[in-house]
Amino acid sequence: MSKTIAVIPGDGIGPEIMDATIRCLDALDCGLVYDYVEAGMVALDKLGDLLPEATVDAIAKHKVALKGPLTTPIGGGFTSINVTLRRKFDLYANVRPAISFPGTKARYENIDIITVRENTEGAYLAEGQTLSEDGQVAQSIIRNTRKGSERIVRYAFEMARSKGRKKITAVHKANIMKTSSGLFLNVAREVAKEYADIEFNEMIVDNTCMQLVMNPYQFDVIVTTNLFGDILSDLCAGLVGGLGLAPGANIGAEAAIFEAVHGSAPDIAGQKKANPCALLLAAADMLDHLDMVAKGTRLRNAIRETIDARDRVTPDLGGKGTTDTFADALVERIRAS
Ligand code: NAI
Ligand code: MG
Repeated sequence: MSKTIAVIPGDGIGPEIMDATIRCLDALDCGLVYDYVEAGMVALDKLGDLLPEATVDAIAKHKVALKGPLTTPIGGGFTSINVTLRRKFDLYANVRPAISFPGTKARYENIDIITVRENTEGAYLAEGQTLSEDGQVAQSIIRNTRKGSERIVRYAFEMARSKGRKKITAVHKANIMKTSSGLFLNVAREVAKEYADIEFNEMIVDNTCMQLVMNPYQFDVIVTTNLFGDILSDLCAGLVGGLGLAPGANIGAEAAIFEAVHGSAPDIAGQKKANPCALLLAAADMLDHLDMVAKGTRLRNAIRETIDARDRVTPDLGGKGTTDTFADALVERIRAS
C-alpha cells in the first residue's frame, strides 16, 4: 500500500537537499507518494503567505511531512513558521538524535545520544512576554504542566523501549526553579517507576552540560523541558561534528514533521555545496515512524559507508563532491544493499 507524505522543500539549500533525499527514498522503493507543498520565503513570494493553508491542509491530511529549512523574515512581525507548525499540530515531542559518523571532524567517536525535548511549553510561551513602558523591566513566563510533562516523559520511555535503549536521564533545574522544573522532575520520577526495565537518573542542567563534554558516553536518552532541550540538543550535535548531520523530528498525536536541524544556509544556497545528510537522517527517522524500519536502517548504513569512504561527499565533510554527487554515491550504495 502506498503512503502519501507532504514534502516541503523550503528555502535556500532546501530544494537541493530535498532533491537528494527524494532520490534516496526512491532508490529504497519505499512506495511513498509525494505531495509537494510550499512554505517559507518561497511561499511568501509566490503565494503571499509564509505558511499557506494548502500546506497546513496537506500536513493535516497526510499526517507525516518531510520539511526542508525555512527562512523566517526578520522584522515585519512574522512568527517563526516552525513555531507555528508546532503549535498548530501540537507537536509536543522534539526528538533529536546525535550519532557519530566515522570520518567526520568530530571531537568524539561512537556517540549515540537522543534528546527528547518538550516542544510546546516551558520557557518558550508566546504569551506573557512583557516589557515595561520605560524599557527597564522585561518578563516572561515559564509554564510547565503535569499533562505536558507526563506526555513528554512517557514518550521518551516508550521510544526508549521501542528502540532498545537502556537509560533515560531527566534534565532539570528543580533546585532553583522549584515549581516549574520541580513539577517536571516529580512527574518524571513518577513515570519512571512504570518502566522498571529502563534505568532512570536525573541531572541538573548545568552539570549536564559539563558531563556531556567530559564524558558523553554516560548518556543514552535525555528527556527535558523546552529551553534546556533546545540548548542541550545543539550541544550534542556539536559532539558529533555539528549541524550537518543532525536530524530532528517534531511529533504529536495528530502529525509528525521530520526535518534537518540546520537552517536554509543562504551563504551556500544554489552552489550545490550543501550536505544532504541531516535531511536524509530525518527521512530515515521518518521511515522508522512509518514502520519501514529496515529501509531506514539501509538508508543510515548507506550514509555511514559513504561518509566513511569519503566517496563524493560535500566540502563540509572534507570532500570535493557536490550535493548531487553525494546523492549519486548514496543511491549506488542503497541499490547495492
Ligand atoms: P544555518 O544552519 O542555515 O547555517 C549556519 C552555517 O552552517 C552556515 O555557514 C551554513 O552554510 C552551514 N550549513 C548549514 N547547513 C548546512 C548543510 N546542510 N551543509 C553544509 N553547510 C551547512 O543557520 P543560520 O545562518 O543561522 O540561518 C539561516 C536561515 O535559516 C535563517 O533565516 C533562519 O531563520 C533559518 N533557520 C531555519 C531552521 C528551520 O527551518 N528548521 C532552523 C534554523 C535556522
Ligand atoms: Mg534550537
